[in-house]
Amino acid sequence: MHTKTESINILGIETSCDETAAAVVANGNVVKSSVVASQGKLHEKYGGVVPEIASRAHIENIYPVVAEAIEKSGIESEDIDAIAVANQPGLTIALMVGVTAAKTLALVWEKPLIAINHLHAHMQSAILTTGDFELPAAALIVSGGHTSVYNYRRPLDPKLLGATIDDAAGEAFDKVAIILKLPYPGGPEIEKIAKEGNPQAINFPRSMLGPDSLDFSFSGIKTAVLYYCHGQDMKGKNLIDSMSRRQIADVAASFQAAVVDVLLEKTRRAAEKINARTILVGGGVASNENLRAGLRAMCESSSPPKKLLIAPKHYCTDNAVMVASLAYHKFKARAFADLSLEPEASG
Ligand code: KG4
Ligand code: ZN
Repeated sequence: MHTKTESINILGIETSCDETAAAVVANGNVVKSSVVASQGKLHEKYGGVVPEIASRAHIENIYPVVAEAIEKSGIESEDIDAIAVANQPGLTIALMVGVTAAKTLALVWEKPLIAINHLHAHMQSAILTTGDFELPAAALIVSGGHTSVYNYRRPLDPKLLGATIDDAAGEAFDKVAIILKLPYPGGPEIEKIAKEGNPQAINFPRSMLGPDSLDFSFSGIKTAVLYYCHGQDMKGKNLIDSMSRRQIADVAASFQAAVVDVLLEKTRRAAEKINARTILVGGGVASNENLRAGLRAMCESSSPPKKLLIAPKHYCTDNAVMVASLAYHKFKARAFADLSLEPEASG
């Protein structure tokens, strides 16, 4: 006879952008399996995520990814206690695939359904592998679609303090990579070539939006890089083609330094505003070594020093472990969704 174990096993599903992911996590922090099918190659030639292509690829990937996550977890489907899915924010037609799969499994397996906010899940990825930490905590979520700071109070109740008013930081990395003729996604490529360059070579603008603002703006720096590489008049000078690798590395390093400075300053301001004892950091751009090192230095030198919890690199970019992990808190609170759950672009 089958005996049910004590642990709460949650299947998480993530399809908000261009990763189809599924994971099984026990008790919120024991990762039983994690499968991520990345579509990077499909979107490469467009220099960004094409929603229609993303949605079609999710449809192809969702069943094998979920099946593999369950198989690798070693847990039988009847021992899964709930199905969690990121239903906001993201590309609606991409989210729709995960939401539909999760609703179907919840219906067929007669399991509770849990709706997860993708950005709150990124925050959860910072605390997945840690024990206790002191509140208040300021959280920086920095990804391809979002750049925001929060007052993290409880796992299910972060308060937004500020957000980008135009491009997300990761989006700026991706767009600058296109200008520099580097592959997609641009963040890791810029980080790589920046190692060969001088971060002080070009003084790109650091938009702070006033002395107290907790919002972000990255469209100005993107335009500054564009003018630098193509000339102010944009009239066919196309300087980029005549630049040496060293010059391109200088642009990449100077751009990266400017973005990191802004992210550090806004995190510092958010922490100061709420008197934070801890800083949480997640999202794709959080895998950037310069940002990680800057955050470490900032937290060590503040008085008193702050605890810094950054998501491990493999959980910075989109994954379903963070979804299943956060869902454990909703499970305990019996905060279930019903089968009318819809994807929501914002949130
Ligand atoms: O969190 P994520 O996987 O997807 C969204 O929710 O948007 O983040 C993807 C973003 C992309 O813009 C990518 O260029 C950026 O994260 N990224 C990086 C690095 N690795 C990924 N940006 C800077 N440095 C990196 N090492
Ligand atoms: Zn994300």
